[in-house]
Amino acid sequence: MKSVLVTLAVLILLFGCNESKKENYTSQIINQDNSEPHPGKKLLETNCYVCHSPIADHDTRIGPPMIAIKKHYINNKTTKAQFIEDIQEWIKDPTEEKARMFGAVRRFGVMPKTPYPEETITQIADYLFDNDIEQPEWFEDHFKQEKGKQNRKGKGMGHDKPKNY
Ligand code: HEC
Repeated sequence: MKSVLVTLAVLILLFGCNESKKENYTSQIINQDNSEPHPGKKLLETNCYVCHSPIADHDTRIGPPMIAIKKHYINNKTTKAQFIEDIQEWIKDPTEEKARMFGAVRRFGVMPKTPYPEETITQIADYLFDNDIEQPEWFEDHFKQEKGKQNRKGKGMGHDKPKNY
């Protein structure tokens, strides 16, 4: 009888261990999904959203939303490396001559030059390229209106047209 109890206790222990291992394993997977966001996300939010906020409303904002920038800099041929380089170049020396968003320059003035570490900009651009980012509610309609005459919606065309973001 005693040995049966011992065997039972051992079995319960083993079973218990397995269970908790399983739990650890699942919670590890969940953690991996949630706890390691792309570092560029936070950097984007803290360094750029002051002016490029996705939630500021259309009339009081002080810069174009990041989604508008993304659509101006990325078309179906743009590689990630090219995009990162373009953003680096802009950040190092933002000038009216280099600007692609003429409407935004007219409305907000050229973006002020601010020294950011290269690594910060690489992370931000890497994140921007690979991820869908938040966009203001008004943006989709506004963008469709602006691009209405062109059939290639959202493919970064129309740099020569003034826009009013
Ligand atoms: C102090 C406000 C401010 C901050 C902070 C800011 N920007 Fe800008 N940015 C602007 C304004 C205003 C424009 C629109 C005028 C222009 O294009 O120069 C702009 C335009 C841009 C453009 C498009 C330039 C063009 O016309 O081709 C890029 C790219 C850009 N910003 C990237 C960034 C990134 C990346 C960050 C964060 C690291 C950032 N900006 C932070 C104000 C800001």
